[in-house]
Amino acid sequence: MNLDFSQIVPYIPFILEGIWVTIKFVVISIIFGFIFGTVLALFKLSHIKPLNWIGDVYTSIFRGTPLILQLMLIYFAIPQLTGYDISSFLCAVLAFGLNSSAYVSEIIRAGIQAVDKGQTEAAQALGIPYRLMMKDLILPQALKNILPALMNEFISLTKESAIVSTIGYLDLMRRAQVVGSQIYRNFEPLIFVGAIYWILVLILTLLGRLVERKMKFSD
Ligand code: ARG
Repeated sequence: MNLDFSQIVPYIPFILEGIWVTIKFVVISIIFGFIFGTVLALFKLSHIKPLNWIGDVYTSIFRGTPLILQLMLIYFAIPQLTGYDISSFLCAVLAFGLNSSAYVSEIIRAGIQAVDKGQTEAAQALGIPYRLMMKDLILPQALKNILPALMNEFISLTKESAIVSTIGYLDLMRRAQVVGSQIYRNFEPLIFVGAIYWILVLILTLLGRLVERKMKFSD
């Protein structure tokens, strides 16, 4: 068997640096996607028809086209249209945040709709304003129910992050390719980076469990 992990040893620091590079843009994308996704979910549930429409069309487009295509559009088309270059970091955050918000909006919409109607009725009977009702009553309950689905989304995003290697962003995946071309063997760096992705997802899963337990406790 032709396997030699010793050759990647000098490149390990270079690969490990990629962890931070990947985490940085994934975390920012998750936050951006979550905030924007919440807004979109409220759009979809609104009584104002044009807002429903905007939410639905947005989701349809961003969920209906490949993420890698959105990434490339932002990376190549924005400079073509505006004459400004966009950094691969900003491009990655934009593409992943916008894409994720489409998925998150559906998760949150379903979560809000699953909260018992009696809650809304009680809040209305008590004269609690819509904004406060959403913020203090409905959203916190919805959040508890949708946590597993949200975790799924964050895990997807973490793994999909590997496609930013296609725009030259030096993330984990790209670093594995660079090392592979340096030492003329690809299996070892790819396996090494694969293990890192797996560990990242394990940590994320654990964090999710922890938050879930905390929320259960607050019951
Ligand atoms: N590969 C799929 C695509 O190109 C996955 C997108 C996943 N995005 C997400 N936010 N979960 O569309």
